[in-house]
Amino acid sequence: MNIILLGAPGAGKGTQAAYLVNKFAIPHISTGDIFRSNIKQRTEIGLIAKSYIDKGQLCPDDVTVKIVELRLANEDCKKGFLLDGFPRTVPQAEALSKITDIDYVIDIEIPFERLLHRLTGRRVCAKCGASYHVDFLNGKTTCDCGEELIHRDDDTEETVSKRINVYTQQTQPLIDYYRERGKLISVNGDQAVEAVFEEIVQKLGK
Ligand code: AP5
Ligand code: MG
Repeated sequence: MNIILLGAPGAGKGTQAAYLVNKFAIPHISTGDIFRSNIKQRTEIGLIAKSYIDKGQLCPDDVTVKIVELRLANEDCKKGFLLDGFPRTVPQAEALSKITDIDYVIDIEIPFERLLHRLTGRRVCAKCGASYHVDFLNGKTTCDCGEELIHRDDDTEETVSKRINVYTQQTQPLIDYYRERGKLISVNGDQAVEAVFEEIVQKLGK
């Protein structure tokens, strides 16, 4: 099964991805995670990506498409994959359509007023990518995998509002793009994590 997770910053893509890859045993491909790992390793791609991510802007389409194309060529993607945060522009979606077929596009819907609190309170594991929220951490500062949790540099109030604007202008058009192609499944992201997951599984019919 080839799946795309679509949704605003903080909609819960990474959170639901963890459940979905576990259930369907497919690899989780998050372009955001790939860029952050490149930034950490100070690669050339990381240097380019950082200059965009820090400003809340999207990285260039050509760089992003190349990364995904290389990742999808891996053996583990033969049985399916879950794309999280890609595509994010119509040109990226068009490039993807030339690389592979997509079965489902899951759009996690969420009122924008929920996003600021979710993102400024988010803590992530720099090692395994797990996402938490301070509201539920009870003072805990480490991930279940043992690694220290961090606050993402782009999860400040100022950058989050820029990311939401970028989402509205460049990514939201993909909802219609995939609806017109009969791929879109919309789920309510404004409910408990487990309830969102149940709705996704039910709508996938799996
Ligand atoms: P990326 O890392 O993909 O960030 P994003 O799309 O902005 O999305 P987030 O990861 O912030 O949110 P999420 O939906 O995964 O939410 P999460 O599950 O963590 O991209 C970062 C940057 O990289 C971009 O800005 C861009 O610069 C660049 N980039 C990446 N892909 C690109 C591309 N294709 N093209 C160009 N540039 C690209 O949840 C958020 C919080 O809410 C957590 O605290 C979580 O615990 C909580 N939460 C989740 N679900 C629920 C729930 N149901 N109820 C209550 N709380 C919840
Ligand atoms: Mg994410």
